[in-house]
Amino acid sequence: MPDDRQASAHGLAAVIRPLLRTRQFREFTAVPPTVEELEAVVDAARWSGSSQNTQPWRFIVIRDVAAIRRIAAAGMTLTRSLQTATAAVAIALPVSPERAVSLAYDDGRAAERMLIAASMLGLGAGIAWIKPDARPVVADLLALPADRMVRTIVAIGRPTDAALAPKAGPGTARLPRAEVVFEDRWPAG
Ligand SMILES: Cc1cc2nc3c(=O)[nH]c(=O)nc-3n(C[C@H](O)[C@H](O)[C@H](O)COP(=O)(O)O)c2cc1C
Repeated sequence: MPDDRQASAHGLAAVIRPLLRTRQFREFTAVPPTVEELEAVVDAARWSGSSQNTQPWRFIVIRDVAAIRRIAAAGMTLTRSLQTATAAVAIALPVSPERAVSLAYDDGRAAERMLIAASMLGLGAGIAWIKPDARPVVADLLALPADRMVRTIVAIGRPTDAALAPKAGPGTARLPRAEVVFEDRWPAG
């Protein structure tokens, strides 16, 4: 596909639009997602593929806003989306240094699906990474067993009007296609 216009001409762009419009949201209104909306978001994550279908994740749905705010405070500034989120989903993974790369990959797949699902439901979501120094606070708040850790918490809510405003000009939030997509081989020069 030579360029975005051709994809659009074939209607393909419209099909993949839910993916393209998925963004990182960090500011939410006080109106929380419904239980059903959160279930739908977590189901999208639960059905993600994982290495050897091990499904290493356990998802902790957090609707206790006080707990969300305590996590936000512990992990700033990576956790700033949790300062206003009205729900969150923590991805609890096994502590297993020998599987670290594959677990991180699975973590990312599940997180991205939650962002997409939230967007498709008219919600907004954002990734908050928990730095190693903040992990004990999170482990304590979420009552994690010793053999589980949380690197990713997905903040969820209803984006504020300000958050919904475009962060960049149309088509400029990502590198141009020619800079990142190559045909058959790495380009010469
Ligand atoms: C692996 C990964 C980790 C991220 N960690 C954080 C984070 O800890 N806190 C945060 O606010 N955003 C985090 N982000 C979100 C990125 O900043 C965001 O995807 C990027 O700025 C593009 O934003 P956009 O999709 O809204 O254009 C993370 C994204 C990825 C892929």
